[in-house]
Amino acid sequence: MQRQYPHLSEPITLGRTTFRNRMFSAPMGGTDIANDGCIGPKSTAFYELRAKGGAGAVTVSELMVHPSTDGSHAYHLDESILNSLACATYTADAIRRHGAMPSLELSHSGQFAGTYMTDKSKQHGLAQWGPCDGVRADGVPVRALTHEMIDEIVDSYGHVAGLAKRAGFEMLMVHGGHGWLINQFLSPLFNHRDDEYGGSLENRCRFAIRVLKAIREAVGPFFPIEFRLSGSEFVADGYGLGEGIRIAQQIEPYIDLLHVSAGTYQKTFGITHPSMFEDHGRNVFLAAEIKKHVKVPVATIGGLNDPDQMEEIIASGKADVVYMGRALLADPYLPRKVTENRTNEIVRCLRCFTCMAERAATSTRRCTVNPIIGREMEGDEVIPVAPERRKKVVVAGGGPGGLYAAWTAARRGHSVVLMEKEDELGGVLKSEQALPFKHEMYELTGTYELFCRQAGVDIRLGCEATKESVEAEGADALIVAVGSTPLVPPIPGLDGPNVVVVNDYYLKKDQVGDRVVVMGGGLAGCECAVHLAQEGKQVALVEMRDSLSPDANVRHRPLLLAQIDRLGIDVRLEHRALSVSEEGVTCTTSQGGEVLVKGESIICALGQRSNTEAVAELADAAPFVRVIGDAARVATITQAVYQGYHAALDI
Ligand SMILES: Cc1cc2nc3c(=O)[nH]c(=O)nc-3n(C[C@H](O)[C@H](O)[C@H](O)COP(=O)(O)O)c2cc1C
Repeated sequence: MQRQYPHLSEPITLGRTTFRNRMFSAPMGGTDIANDGCIGPKSTAFYELRAKGGAGAVTVSELMVHPSTDGSHAYHLDESILNSLACATYTADAIRRHGAMPSLELSHSGQFAGTYMTDKSKQHGLAQWGPCDGVRADGVPVRALTHEMIDEIVDSYGHVAGLAKRAGFEMLMVHGGHGWLINQFLSPLFNHRDDEYGGSLENRCRFAIRVLKAIREAVGPFFPIEFRLSGSEFVADGYGLGEGIRIAQQIEPYIDLLHVSAGTYQKTFGITHPSMFEDHGRNVFLAAEIKKHVKVPVATIGGLNDPDQMEEIIASGKADVVYMGRALLADPYLPRKVTENRTNEIVRCLRCFTCMAERAATSTRRCTVNPIIGREMEGDEVIPVAPERRKKVVVAGGGPGGLYAAWTAARRGHSVVLMEKEDELGGVLKSEQALPFKHEMYELTGTYELFCRQAGVDIRLGCEATKESVEAEGADALIVAVGSTPLVPPIPGLDGPNVVVVNDYYLKKDQVGDRVVVMGGGLAGCECAVHLAQEGKQVALVEMRDSLSPDANVRHRPLLLAQIDRLGIDVRLEHRALSVSEEGVTCTTSQGGEVLVKGESIICALGQRSNTEAVAELADAAPFVRVIGDAARVATITQAVYQGYHAALDI
């Protein structure tokens, strides 16, 4: 067989361990860690899925090496805790049995202890230890680690490494980046010590090297050790790429793989985890440059999800291994699809940050495009029904929720008709084609459509689901995914020729002039405003409430607001639109005055309402009826897909 991606598919040997390919799964935090620090079965299932999906290595995220001076990540490994070693062993087994190498990330968050806690007030009660005394930006005091404490932490790294090896992990990743403790020692921004751990580069590397030596002693000469380094911190007073290279050279003798990431969690979140506003692989240059100066194999990471790009990275020698985080949430089977020449079936990550925001909001994990994520134990395989239980299923509506429902029902063996009243599938996703930074969201329709067609769904375009048409199919089950309609309130002039409803912007882009007022500062309005400003237009954003985009998730929102700020969009909060004319939008302000916000073109982005009439019409069209997505309540694609999946399982 001729592999289309020979470089990505090629095994690599680190130490004396051979990894089946060059696509590794990045550390992503487990969610059901028990109070005693044991990893729970949900997290094990979460990692196992990435192993099933074909990754070369699967990294289990941040094991806290020294709980008495840390408190960020609850996961710990301690033989004095009943079940601790057993749980770690089950996790390593779950990965190893699918042919992937289990790796474990060893970590200490230092002065940022408590970062991941949902209840932020709790972190104030934790010990915040760093290289130096100080006060964090959020006012939390930090105390300098003493020599004795440093010795103890170094010993803990060694001790835990030995246990991890015993548990069956085949590689260890030492977290030396992203602003955590080892990075704090490496960084001139955090480290102002005047002893042998501070000052010169050699001194700043001392802690990291002691840690690596302790681990090596515990695991022996041939066991692969990986070091995660931020190639550049990308902050003033931090280190840049030049110093990143010199740090890499210091560290190199003690490791088998240098993992070059970027930035810090606290200050450059959208670079460390490249947001949708960044290029894919925007940090690859760091790995590529560092690789020129070291002999040890180098890994790269950051917004990678395109097999062509990743193949080129390895083929051209920019890196030896590519890591993916979010891309393997969106599609855990991405590595298998690459090695099996099925890349047209890859579900691409949208970089919407639902994964990270859900952790902050509910301490669980979700992915917009993959309803299994965080719920892997509930079954990542759709079990077909017995032939005598096969049903006739109609799905009304071909948006993301409807498509996912249709695909899932068809995979179960049901006979599925999908009726879409428009001539095109996609529902709300159609409008995303106008925004280059959301092209993956637009392309999602094509991917789900492919899955539906492969599974034998009868897709009928230009076909409205009515009570009659559904009954004529003799449907046993009906999934109502008829979506929502834009809200266009009766504001005088809003029906004028210079107004474009945001959902139609992709069709009417050419009609939009150089000076635009976007009415509505929700997510859709904000993202449209960003795109218009990127196109060089002069944009004002008018919002009735006192803040922008409260509907965006907590990770995406600050990055979106930063774009709005950077692009100089004229934001008018607490402005209520009174009327629209050729001149712009006349608003009342919070002070009670009237102003004209000037613009020749107006975008109406004032929200959506569920298509309740269509829902009501279909209520009795089949014995089993389930309403999902926006049709049930205007929400997110995440909800639509999740509900679509489960509706299909419930038939
Ligand atoms: C949901 C999620 C959880 C993460 N948890 C960790 C973690 O526990 N430790 C860590 O070092 N990095 C963590 N990261 C960062 C990733 O390992 C990776 O560096 C980052 O997401 C960039 O890669 P990507 O663009 O392929 O997602 C996490 C990322 C995500 C998306």
